Amino acid sequence: MTETVLVAYGSTNGSTVEIAECIGEILTKEGLSVDVRSASDVADLGRYDAVVLGGGLYAGRWQRDARRFARHHGKALAERRVWLFSSGPLDTSASTRDIPPAPGVRRIANRIAARGHITFGGRLEGDVKGRMARMIVNSGKGGDFRDFEQIAAWAVEVAQDLSSQSQSD
Ligand SMILES: Cc1cc2nc3c(=O)[nH]c(=O)nc-3n(C[C@H](O)[C@H](O)[C@H](O)COP(=O)(O)O)c2cc1C
Repeated sequence: MTETVLVAYGSTNGSTVEIAECIGEILTKEGLSVDVRSASDVADLGRYDAVVLGGGLYAGRWQRDARRFARHHGKALAERRVWLFSSGPLDTSASTRDIPPAPGVRRIANRIAARGHITFGGRLEGDVKGRMARMIVNSGKGGDFRDFEQIAAWAVEVAQDLSSQSQSD
């Protein structure tokens, strides 16, 4: 049977939304049934076999909707196959090396026995929300550091892991 996967995201400035959409497209191409939704819009995980949950990083923590989602759905997440991602660094570091999860994200990963976590580069540019965000952009330290090849490759790995697991279930 086709596995149904939720890709849920917590995003303030929109860049994590596009990462989630890219992951959703790849999982769909790999033959999975996929919903891509804001973490704040999901009430129930009942119909999902697996979840990919991601959040933008703000001051070393996941964006609030992703944190709340992990807290609220903790039990359901622990019963499902879950992969996590963070998006943040405003430089090329995430494309060149593994960036470990922030402490709070690591605690979530441990609590729900997540199958994996990856940090992707972030984006901050244009019309951003918040004083700090505007300061970063105005000081020339913003930009788009998302690596969509890296994101797509990771999504393919998730799809492969999911299909090998479902065959052995
Ligand atoms: C106030 C502020 C704090 C941030 N803190 C971090 C951080 O602690 N670690 C990090 O890697 N990126 C940090 N960033 C960069 C964001 O995570 C990055 O812009 C990300 O792509 C935002 O995701 P979103 O557009 O989905 O909200 C910060 C950005 C802002 C504006």
